[in-house]
Amino acid sequence: MGRGRATGWIGLGLAAAMALGLAVAARAQAPQQVVKGEPPAGGRPGVHEGVASCSGSSCHSRPAASGLTVRQNELITWQDPHSEAGAHSRAWKVLTTARGEAIAQRLGVGPAEKAKECLACHADPAPAGMRGARFQVSDGVGCEACHGGAGAWIASHYAVGATHAANVAKGMVALDEPKARAAKCLSCHFGSSEPHQFVTHQIMAAGHPQLSFELDLFSSLQKHYDFDADYVSRHKQIPGGVKTWAVGQAMALDRMLTLYGPKNPGGVFPEFSFFDCQSCHRTMASSDPKWRPVAEANPGRPIPVGQPPFNDENMVMLSAAAKVAAPALAQKFETDSRAFHEALAKNGAGAAQRAAALAATSQQLADAFAAKSFSRAETLAIFEAVLSGDNARRITDFSGATQAVMAADTLLNALVADGAIDRGAYGRVKPDLDRAYQTVRDPNAFRAADARTALAQVAEKVRGLK
Ligand code: HEC
Ligand code: HEC
Ligand code: HEC
Ligand code: HEC
Repeated sequence: MGRGRATGWIGLGLAAAMALGLAVAARAQAPQQVVKGEPPAGGRPGVHEGVASCSGSSCHSRPAASGLTVRQNELITWQDPHSEAGAHSRAWKVLTTARGEAIAQRLGVGPAEKAKECLACHADPAPAGMRGARFQVSDGVGCEACHGGAGAWIASHYAVGATHAANVAKGMVALDEPKARAAKCLSCHFGSSEPHQFVTHQIMAAGHPQLSFELDLFSSLQKHYDFDADYVSRHKQIPGGVKTWAVGQAMALDRMLTLYGPKNPGGVFPEFSFFDCQSCHRTMASSDPKWRPVAEANPGRPIPVGQPPFNDENMVMLSAAAKVAAPALAQKFETDSRAFHEALAKNGAGAAQRAAALAATSQQLADAFAAKSFSRAETLAIFEAVLSGDNARRITDFSGATQAVMAADTLLNALVADGAIDRGAYGRVKPDLDRAYQTVRDPNAFRAADARTALAQVAEKVRGLK
């Protein structure tokens, strides 16, 4: 796995981001200017020292780097004004755009760049007492928002002989481990139980984009590191695309289910952001003779018509992954997920219990996936399982279809990286993949049948390659 893969990803990633309507406007903005500096001597454990502390010219802001232990140009990637890779450096700035301010104003919490409801994800959420002298909220999602407060390790992590394990013991987040990485990214790309780290339906109704996340694809989009011999020598894991994808699915479902209870303390309506958006947001025209219900029968969701379905995008992916890569858990996962949908439809107190049971199974799946390596045959089998048969019939809504398209993208790239598909053959599948992305570009124009057809074509093309 080398740079070839990274290059392949960029094009796809852009297609992905465009298709998902993500952050495209932000690309035109100027990068944040970060003060350059040398690392401080270090501080209290867990203190977030600020991006300026990482950006010394002999540290992580070299213009071009080669032959070094790490790239050392990480800051430049993080700040890239022309791609998604630079999105985190712009995260605070987007709050000051007309759209950002309008959202906060509608919620009555403005200005956005000062609202805790927004800063929990659009900046490093380190609490006030854990911010070093050079910490700046305006840096957006800085290095330590992911890598952890550097107070205890900033002065020692670059020393000759400093090990990754020693850094982790001092508070660096082990982002090479897929579970730890997923947990970190999901805090902002789905939500967490930390104060204000959640995009409620109310925030979406005020104009916030719907969140969509896939761990492997989004990791590639912001990649500022190389998996080289040196990386391995520091005992860091290189989880591989399929493992990262699978663990990401299990962790996302676990997060969704463990937050469902706390975010639904009671009241007339549940928190709508957990449910399929289009099941409520659609034109109601039953007097129109051409009208047809948007909701389709879905074999994985035993719920009555008229009930908004719980967003099962990760369940559908996990169901496919479990059948191939964790068969001992697959049946339990099916049973638990059906029982959860059923309990929700009855609206009883049983739903919380069922959510907890399904979350526990998701955790078991995350552990099983994290502990195994995925063979080429398994990757192909998961690819088939996601895109065809029973599973394809479960792709009935926008979020599920979007997740399936991202899965096709990720799994295809894993096959290319593995040498199972060569670049030429990949080039012949790419137009079909792009067509699949087209079907999930606009939620208002979404038709599940079109998405399924496009995905079936991708699967058919890949079968033809073998
Ligand atoms: C749980 C974390 C979270 C919270 C809380 C949150 N956001 Fe976001 N926001 C995100 C993520 C993640 C994205 C990027 C979505 C994507 O590209 O997948 C985003 C995207 C946006 C965008 C679109 C950015 C662009 O580049 O087009 C705006 C504007 C925005 N948020 C404003 C706000 C405002 C204003 C608030 C407070 C009321 C807020 N956000 C609260 C996580 C959050
Ligand atoms: C959105 C989260 C995120 C942000 C923000 C982020 N990183 Fe990373 N970084 C990662 C992930 C994920 C990895 C890959 C896993 C790993 O090696 O720990 C990584 C890896 C690295 C590596 C390890 C390379 C190696 O060979 O071991 C360095 C160095 C690094 N990042 C520096 C930075 C710097 C400096 C910044 C700020 C300018 C930054 N990162 C911002 C997520 C992030
Ligand atoms: C502290 C909150 C936070 C964390 C942690 C975080 N992100 Fe983000 N991320 C955001 C916000 C907010 C945006 C949107 C910024 C914008 O639009 O400029 C974003 C945008 C992105 C984008 C660009 C998407 C697009 O459409 O432009 C990618 C890719 C991404 N994040 C990947 C990751 C990955 C991978 C991780 C974990 C390693 C991670 N993020 C962790 C808050 C976070
Ligand atoms: C259970 C039904 C239901 C679900 C599910 C639901 N919504 Fe809503 N949504 C509503 C209702 C009701 C309103 C208020 C409509 C009004 O003010 O006239 C609303 C308002 C909105 C608005 C404000 C714009 C408008 O049309 O008034 C947006 C945007 C929105 N929702 C987005 C979403 C997104 C994104 C999701 C999925 C994550 C979602 N909704 C899921 C019922 C739902």
